[in-house]
Amino acid sequence: EQDSYILAVETSCDETSVSVVKNGREVLSNLIFSQIETHKAFGGVVPEVASRKHVESITLMLQEAVEQSGISPDKLSAVAVTQGPGLVGALLVGIMAAKSLAFALDKPLIGTHHIAGHIYANRLVQEISYPCIALVVSGGHTELVLMESEGKFRLIGRTRDDAVGEAYDKVARALGFPYPGGPYVDRLAHEAENSADLPRSWLEPDSFDFSFSGLKSAVLNVLNQTKMRGETPDIPAIARGFQESVIEVLVEKAIRAMRMTGASELLLCGGVAANRGLREALAERCDREGITLRIPPFAYCTDNAAMIGAAAFLKLQHGEFAPQTMKAEPGLSL
Ligand code: KG4
Ligand code: ZN
Repeated sequence: EQDSYILAVETSCDETSVSVVKNGREVLSNLIFSQIETHKAFGGVVPEVASRKHVESITLMLQEAVEQSGISPDKLSAVAVTQGPGLVGALLVGIMAAKSLAFALDKPLIGTHHIAGHIYANRLVQEISYPCIALVVSGGHTELVLMESEGKFRLIGRTRDDAVGEAYDKVARALGFPYPGGPYVDRLAHEAENSADLPRSWLEPDSFDFSFSGLKSAVLNVLNQTKMRGETPDIPAIARGFQESVIEVLVEKAIRAMRMTGASELLLCGGVAANRGLREALAERCDREGITLRIPPFAYCTDNAAMIGAAAFLKLQHGEFAPQTMKAEPGLSL
């Protein structure tokens, strides 16, 4: 069979990324331009600013990604782009760029789901065995997804309020760290000697849903009460207590989902998959339970276009192309 080359574009949030992926597997180039420095000043992602930054860098990045791949543009099999979910203005920049390129080169266009991308990032390393459970944890998502076969997604649990990454970032901010604060809290939690006693949110006994806003409020309460007593809060202990609460619930519900569905593999995906504590806790627990755990390499955990190329490859195989009239879908479901 002929080799395929997908040019993939990802602009759903604050990373502009372009990649060329061969046969859905081999990453020939994967450029990522993070806007974090720009958004830091605002303490979070500003949608308008994100769109403008994407516009500034996308054209040059398309050119550079193709050059780095060593593939001439006429050899490309398709142009893929994240259709949603994400910030509508940010998505539009990538979609317009992908459409223009597909039109100019006379190549098929593929629209990809951002979360499918996070999940299929695991395919860049090794074939996935089904049925499997994906625990998707990022700045915008916290989901337990059952995949009975390739391309089939069944949402079995999701957050009812904040996404895990969002909770990390908000707590980090309250503890005095810059955006995005997840990695700071992770590091601090490891260094801490003590652990603050914070609640776990289990919801109904049989629920696979999550809730993190109560935990976030509990952190804010501890901080306020300590300050009101005129004492200095033990910041590392709070970071550790927060991280322990988050990890305990994520691990427990993921394992329970594995048992209930009889899935053979657990895939950890999304930006928070970079969390050291979560990786360690899941690895240890899966080892004990005899469960195969997959975690993509760090570079493919946070937003990137290579994962979009990996997801688009399956659509290419099935000839699932998008029309030039394809729209951005900020609330696209799996
Ligand atoms: O997947 P991603 O790059 O973007 C979204 O699609 O949301 O995830 C970014 C999120 C941010 O909230 C960031 O704080 C969090 O992932 N994150 C972490 C760690 N590294 C990144 N959270 C906790 N611990 C980490 N080590
Ligand atoms: Zn993401």
